[in-house]
Order: sequence, then C-alpha cells, then structure tokens
Amino acid sequence: MSVTRSVILGCGCYLPSRVLTNEELAHTVDTSDEWIVQRTGIHERRIAATGELTSDLALHAAQAALAHAKVDAQSIDLIVLATSTPDNTFPATAVSVQAGLGITHGAAFDLQAVCSGFVYGLATIDGLLRGGMFKRALLIGAETFSRILDWTDRTTCVLFGDGAGAVVMEAQEQPGNASDRGLLTTHLRSDGRHKQKLYVDGGPSSTGTVGHLRMEGREVFRHAVAMITDVVEDAFKATGYTAADIDWFVPHQANKRIIDGSAHKLGIDPGKIVITVDRHGNTSAASIPLALCDAITDRRIKRGDLILLEAMGGGFTWGAALVRW
Ligand code: ACO
Repeated sequence: MSVTRSVILGCGCYLPSRVLTNEELAHTVDTSDEWIVQRTGIHERRIAATGELTSDLALHAAQAALAHAKVDAQSIDLIVLATSTPDNTFPATAVSVQAGLGITHGAAFDLQAVCSGFVYGLATIDGLLRGGMFKRALLIGAETFSRILDWTDRTTCVLFGDGAGAVVMEAQEQPGNASDRGLLTTHLRSDGRHKQKLYVDGGPSSTGTVGHLRMEGREVFRHAVAMITDVVEDAFKATGYTAADIDWFVPHQANKRIIDGSAHKLGIDPGKIVITVDRHGNTSAASIPLALCDAITDRRIKRGDLILLEAMGGGFTWGAALVRW
C-alpha cells in the first residue's frame, strides 16, 4: 500500500567568505592550533561580515537549494528557519527570507531547538506536509554564532562558526516498501533539567540584552554520546534498519570526538561519516544541511542511499532521522 513521504528534492548551502583559522585565534586568546585540533577536530571556521545577517546567509542557502531542486520559489508554501541567532527578537527571520524570495503566500516561521534545530525542523515539516496542510517546504538552518560568542572566553569561542544550509521538501506518494524515498522516521527528545549546561546569558525577557553563549563543555561532552546513540537506536527500532544498512552518517558537527564516539558505539563504519567540523566548526542548526550539501556536491551521496542524521544541543535537545535520498 502506498504511503505519503516527505522527499528531499534538493539542498543548498552558503558560507561567509571570511575564514578564521586556529592560528589567528591563538593571537587573541590563550589557545593553540594543536589544542583545538586535538580536542575538537576543528581547523578553521567562517565568520559573517559586518552587516551580513542570518537572513542573508539563509537566503543564499535557500536560493541554492531551489536551484539544486530545480523548483521555482513560487511553488514553496512553507518556510521553516531553524536558528538560535535570529536577525531580531521578532519578526521571525524566516519572513525576511520569504520576502527575499518574493513569496507572499503560505507561511514562514522560525524554530528554536539550538543545535538540534534542523532535525526538529525535519520532523515539524514532515508532519505538516504529510498532514496535507502544505505542499512544498523550505527547511533552512542558518546561524551567526559569531555574534553571541564571548571572544575573550577560550573555552567557547574556538568551537563555533557561521553558515547556512537548506533543503526543499515535498510530500510524495511512495510505494510503501524498502525503496521509499524521503523521511522514513524522526525522533525528538528534550530534557530541560540540563538547560544551564549550555545557554546564552541574555534575552528579551531576562536581561533585555542579547547575551553570550555559556557552556559547561565537559558536562555537554559527558551526555552527548549516550543521548545521541539512544535516540538513533529508536530510529533503528522504528524502521528495522541497523548500523550496517546506513550508507552515510551525517551528524551534527559539534566536535569530532563526539561524532567518532557516537559512530563507534553505534557500530557505524568510520568511512561512512561525513565530516565538515574541521572546516566549519560548530554551526549549530546549520551544520547538518551544510554537511549534507558537502557530500551531495562531491557525489558521495547517491540516489537511493540511506542516510542517518542526528543532533544534540542546548536544552538539552536531541534527535535523529533516517532519510532515503
Ligand atoms: N585552548 C587551550 N586550553 C583550553 C581551551 C582552549 N581553547 N579551552 C579550555 N582549555 C583548557 C581548560 O581551561 C582546562 O585547563 P585546566 O586543566 O588547567 O583547567 C583544559 O584545557 C581542559 O579543559 P576541559 O574543558 O576539560 O577540556 P575537554 O577535553 O573537555 O575539551 C571541549 C573541551 C572541547 C569544550 C569538550 O569538553 C567538548 O567538546 N565538549 C562538548 C561541547 C560542545 O561540543 N558543545 C557544542 C554545543 S553542544 C553540541 O553541539 C553537542
């Protein structure tokens, strides 16, 4: 019996041109290229130019995704933008992207789940498309974390970067068997007891300021692998797939040690991991679509491949998805 699935039609990404290397950071805070690479796998990250906003990054990525999917912007009736660094407190940055694309119909809103925003966005759009409320959606992850970093704090400022990635999704009838394309399952979790371990110390209702990112890095690290592997196991149980069936593992790019630790615990072949954290740092909600784009552009990911996505971040929030490309 056929089933309706949310199929990803194409993806696009955008990185600001300014590259900030570890060597440059070592001139401004007490750190070294060796420390950063050994603890995180990061060599460099991109930084948005003065005046370059999250919506600008998002619009570039959205236009690239539409071109890759070969669809017209006017066919989009839903835009979900996952971000923790919106242009303004309100309106949603998604409406700036909507206006930039010249779309005046349908709906656009922001989604806030920090680093898990892209996986949360996939699940949200999947429900709305399969429920029949919208036909074709843009999911964008876009961040300018450089604007919320304390550049004097070496424990956090070396970890993050700016960028944006987007996918076009559409509800399609699929045969209802193992060849089905699209989102096969999504699993979302959160546990607010951990909210002080990774947060921004400002906001409209608390301080009236934007604030800076604060993190208990060791605590985040301690929870990350267990939470990620647990929710991925849920995705395996729901579909019957195992680690051996995965063609590509496209994780949130926070830290290479977390990624490698999760893959090892799950039994995923290291050769199947897509890594961009070395060049992008942690771009929060943008990291999964940026990594996805990387592996699609260089033709590692091919039609029919089974892709595992996962993320974990502030809240804590975490989640996993399985997609047939
Ligand atoms: N350069 C040099 N030394 C540093 C730096 C730095 N940039 N940052 C911290 N140190 C020092 C610390 O001060 C400490 O010194 P001390 O022993 O004299 O006190 C020493 O290095 C060890 O610090 P730890 O925090 O124990 O280092 P750890 O091995 O845990 O690595 C890190 C730190 C990289 C932050 C790690 O804990 C981590 O990756 N945590 C996960 C955090 C993360 O990825 N967050 C992203 C958001 S959440 C998510 O996306 C999953």
